[in-house]
Order: sequence, then C-alpha cells, then structure tokens
Amino acid sequence: MSNSSHHSYQPYSNKPGLCIIESKEGSSFLGIRIESASFPTSISAIQAGIVQCLMYDQQPAVIFYDDPKLSNLEYWIKSLSLKGEQVSEQELNEKATKLQEYNQQKLDSSTLNLSQISNPNQTTGLTSVKPIPLEVFGLSKHSKDLQSIEEKTNKSHPIFSKIQMEQFKQALVDVCKLAICPESNFPVGALLWTNLGVFPGVNVEFHDWSLGLCAERTALISALSHGADTFFGIFVHAIYGDFSTPCGACRQILSEHMLFSKLYCLHKDYTWSEYFIHDLLPNAFHTDFLAKY
Ligand code: THU
Repeated sequence: MSNSSHHSYQPYSNKPGLCIIESKEGSSFLGIRIESASFPTSISAIQAGIVQCLMYDQQPAVIFYDDPKLSNLEYWIKSLSLKGEQVSEQELNEKATKLQEYNQQKLDSSTLNLSQISNPNQTTGLTSVKPIPLEVFGLSKHSKDLQSIEEKTNKSHPIFSKIQMEQFKQALVDVCKLAICPESNFPVGALLWTNLGVFPGVNVEFHDWSLGLCAERTALISALSHGADTFFGIFVHAIYGDFSTPCGACRQILSEHMLFSKLYCLHKDYTWSEYFIHDLLPNAFHTDFLAKY
C-alpha cells in the first residue's frame, strides 16, 4: 500500500498499516495507521477502524486484514468478539480503494442542512458524525478562498463572523452528545475544518483506558480516511470541562498535522479561547530529517 493511496500517514517508518472493519449493520470502515513522531501517540490501523465504526453508532463485527502482525490484532479480536478474515494484500487494497471511492461519493452528495442553527432554541439536527459540507458553516470549497483564509488565519485576524461562531458552538454542543465515554462520563466533541468538509469527532473509550482516543484525534482519523489533506482549523468542546483544552497527546498530533492552524476551544460558559497550535506546544519535536512540515 502506498502512502497516498489510502491516506494513511506513515512518514517515519514507511510501514503500511491497513484494515477494514465491517459492522453488524453492514457498513465498512477504513482503518489506517497514523504515525506520530512521538511513538505512543501513534494510532494503529485497527484502533482507527474500530473508533470510526463506534462513532457511527455501529457494532464492529468483522476485521479484514492482510498482515497478522497488525498492532494488538489478537486483543481486538478477542475483546470485541470480532470475526477475523485474513485476505491477500491485493484484495485488501482493492476493498480499501472501493471503500474510499464510496466515501468520497457520499461526501459529494452530502445534503446535511444545518439551517436551523441560527435559532438558539433549536438543535443543529446533527445526529451522526458524518462529514458536514463546508457551505453549512458559510465556508467555500474553492481552494483559492481557503488559501486566503489560511493566510488571514496566520495573521491572527478573526476570520469567522459571530453567526459562524454560533453555528460552530451549536454543532459542537450536539457533537458532544455522540461521545462514547462509559469510563469517564466526560463527553468531548471536535470539528475539524478541512479542504473536504468539516469532520466531527468524539472521544471514544474502551475498557482498556489506554486504547481510547480523544475527540480531536477521532476527527483527524475520519478526515484522513476520507482523503482530506489540508487542515485549516479545529473546534473543541468538553461539556463538563470548565475550561476546554486539548491534552498533551492531541497537542502532539495536531502539531504534526496543522502546526500553523488555529484551535478554538468552547468552554462550559460558552466563551471561546483561540490559539495557534504552535503556541500550544512550543518547541514541538520535529525535524526535516524525519518528515515534511
Ligand atoms: N479528551 C478528549 O477527547 N480530548 C482532549 O483533548 C482531552 C481529553 C477525552 C479523553 C477521555 O475520553 C476523556 O476526555 C477524559 O480524559
């Protein structure tokens, strides 16, 4: 599997990692490996596939894989009672390509309309983590516009109107309701603004605490799996967090994917704080020797 073909992110080891998780309900989810320059914040292919399946409120049932050495394969199969289906590398790649094409088509035909969200008494109608078209937030698909927005962001001008911030607020509050946090009962929601749309993410927890993933990172997994490759900004909210702020692992991952973009944190009292990612992790570890920035 090549780096670009399925949008995995493995610049350090160049080792592919891919699986497909099929749910009891019959949907398929791409599991791609996402490496971090810091070993422990790397996301394994299976973890990425399973969290997407759970985020979409579906039950993982089957795992298709080609490499029996995938991280924690036995553990996941046992703990979630999955059916393991080993297939050839070629078969897996073909399935993954088809799945990504299907996801892209769904993106193009997405009709989610958050028209109600200017009324503060209504909810956004957001009941799933499926990607939200840029237009819903008054953002444009044209890359030229996005580039100029990115430039403006870098000059630290406010780039969103009050109405847009209200839209992001309401969408964040609704996204949090989709969190899977039986261990902590601490729901977190994120919205990742990319070239392909705005990707929601929620925290997903497992009985083994160390295998859970934060909302910021599940949003990134979803975006990369759909083929997004430019990350303009991220919005985060923790319903019960007096002061919403990303954990160290998320700061590391965000700094690797969107160092010069902005993070908008919505607090419990619905006030915002905004930061450049590079200010949240000063002197972050990176080197041109290892990877591209
Ligand atoms: N959490 C996030 O989702 N994002 C963060 O940046 C901080 C923490 C989640 C992880 C876990 O499910 C819960 O909040 C408590 O740590």
